[in-house]
Amino acid sequence: MLLKATFLLLSCLLLCSADQYQQEAERIMTTSPVIDGHNDLPWQLLKKFNNQLSLKSANLTTLNDTHTNIPKLRLGHVGAQFWAAYVPCETQNKDAVKRTLEQIDVIHRMCHHYPDDFECVSSSAGIQNAFTNGRVASLIGVEGGHSIDSSMAVLRTFYQLGVRYMTLTHSCNTPWADNWLVDTPDEEPVHNGLTEFGKRLVREMNRLGMMVDLAHVSVKTMKDALNVSRAPVIFSHSSAYAICKHRRNVPDDVLREVNKTRGLVMVNFYNTYVSCSSKANLTQVADHMDYVKRVAGPEAVGFGGDYDGVPSVPDGLENVSKYPDLVAELLRRNWTEKEVRDALTNNLLRVFESVEQVRDAMAREKIVPDDGPIDFKNLEGTCQTDYGYPSNGDHPKMLPAVLALPVLLVLRW
Ligand SMILES: *[C@@H]1O[C@H](CO)[C@@H](O)[C@H](O)[C@H]1NC(C)=O
Ligand SMILES: *[C@@H]1O[C@H](CO)[C@@H](O)[C@H](O)[C@H]1NC(C)=O
Ligand SMILES: *[C@@H]1O[C@H](CO)[C@@H](O)[C@H](O)[C@H]1NC(C)=O
Ligand SMILES: *[C@@H]1O[C@H](CO)[C@@H](O)[C@H](O)[C@H]1NC(C)=O
Ligand SMILES: *[C@@H]1O[C@H](CO)[C@@H](O)[C@H](O)[C@H]1NC(C)=O
Ligand SMILES: *[C@@H]1O[C@H](CO)[C@@H](O)[C@H](O)[C@H]1NC(C)=O
Ligand SMILES: *[C@@H]1O[C@H](CO)[C@@H](O)[C@H](O)[C@H]1NC(C)=O
Ligand SMILES: [Zn+2]
Repeated sequence: MLLKATFLLLSCLLLCSADQYQQEAERIMTTSPVIDGHNDLPWQLLKKFNNQLSLKSANLTTLNDTHTNIPKLRLGHVGAQFWAAYVPCETQNKDAVKRTLEQIDVIHRMCHHYPDDFECVSSSAGIQNAFTNGRVASLIGVEGGHSIDSSMAVLRTFYQLGVRYMTLTHSCNTPWADNWLVDTPDEEPVHNGLTEFGKRLVREMNRLGMMVDLAHVSVKTMKDALNVSRAPVIFSHSSAYAICKHRRNVPDDVLREVNKTRGLVMVNFYNTYVSCSSKANLTQVADHMDYVKRVAGPEAVGFGGDYDGVPSVPDGLENVSKYPDLVAELLRRNWTEKEVRDALTNNLLRVFESVEQVRDAMAREKIVPDDGPIDFKNLEGTCQTDYGYPSNGDHPKMLPAVLALPVLLVLRW
């Protein structure tokens, strides 16, 4: 008897303590894999290989100097990933649309090159199918409203190409929305949130069934979008402002609004947003998750690692293979199995389904595509032509043509 008890005690000392939560995390993630809100591997593919996936060095199985590769995704139980179609703000009013299309294309090609590992999907049901097929459901998020060049038509075309969220701004204002930098001493507010055109874009996203992502936007833009959107919104990669007072993070009043509207905050792992310093660790990321859970609710928490988009990640979360370690920490903090499964999988699925239901409701209400262009005077840069825009009531393109005709005739001689 005594011997048996001692044996049990010893086994437990060995197993229960260190590995219990880790094993529990692995077990849970086998059936509830993580759906991550934001990964910048496509940006790495552009920078390292100019998007040439056929290069031997661009093999996503053997790639070894990124946070993300296929074996790491497998170890990390990543079931679905929103890949960022990100192009920098310096492309705004230049080649932003082309560059964004190229990033959408490279994501599609990832799925074609690795059909056993990635399955490009564009619906909540598609995510679940990919789970069943044992592939990483691959979705596309356009990171920054500058990518649509203020065009409803480009937004709709992105939807047709499979884009299922758009971050309203990156770290620059658009002609219709303010970014987070206006909440810092570095920039002044320009639009005070969303302009009327910006609000119409949000409603058009609702009509299409594209999720509204509020990572990177100003607090007033967050509030305007939360007020205007018929569907719940997401923060694809943002943490809690109360824990680290960085303006990329989500303040408490917005967290409470996310709770009321049944939205989602997918916590970012970037050291600067986690600890407000250059160093951070897994425990501190768990603090953000605990906080979002407490203020916005257990159904409003998610994972938005920002892997391969940031220069530093926390100790203990070095790459995408480490999600189970974070889940183990949440279990250690007494998160229930349901809360953990919700944060991993079910919260994003619920929000995505709501967005699809709003799309279907708006179709039943026969709400038509918004075909009203932005005012020409709101466009910026020198690349814009004004076709279709009447200028001062006369026909600006006709006059030069009439003048050009005699010139052409003269030149022929
Ligand atoms: C990538 O490398 C692995 C391992 O060497 C190989 O099996 C696979 O065929 C390669 N994949 C592609 C798409 O080249
Ligand atoms: C990483 O991959 C490169 C190119 O495929 C290879 O030359 C190098 O030896 C690898 N490094 C490690 C540490 O595996
Ligand atoms: C990242 O993931 C691999 C698993 O593929 C792990 O063995 C490795 O230690 C991790 N890299 C770093 C830098 O921690
Ligand atoms: C939300 O929008 C309505 C108009 O649709 C406006 O009356 C209200 O003040 C707005 N609320 C907030 C918090 O902005
Ligand atoms: C993480 O960092 C915090 C703050 O520096 C520290 O208190 C904590 O002990 C660290 N956790 C681990 C597991 O190292
Ligand atoms: C919002 O908060 C309430 C009360 O704390 C909670 O019961 C509910 O689950 C929360 N909603 C979400 C979406 O988490
Ligand atoms: C978790 O629950 C146990 C048992 O109820 C308790 O002893 C422990 O203090 C709790 N831990 C935390 C971090 O709340
Ligand atoms: Zn970002």
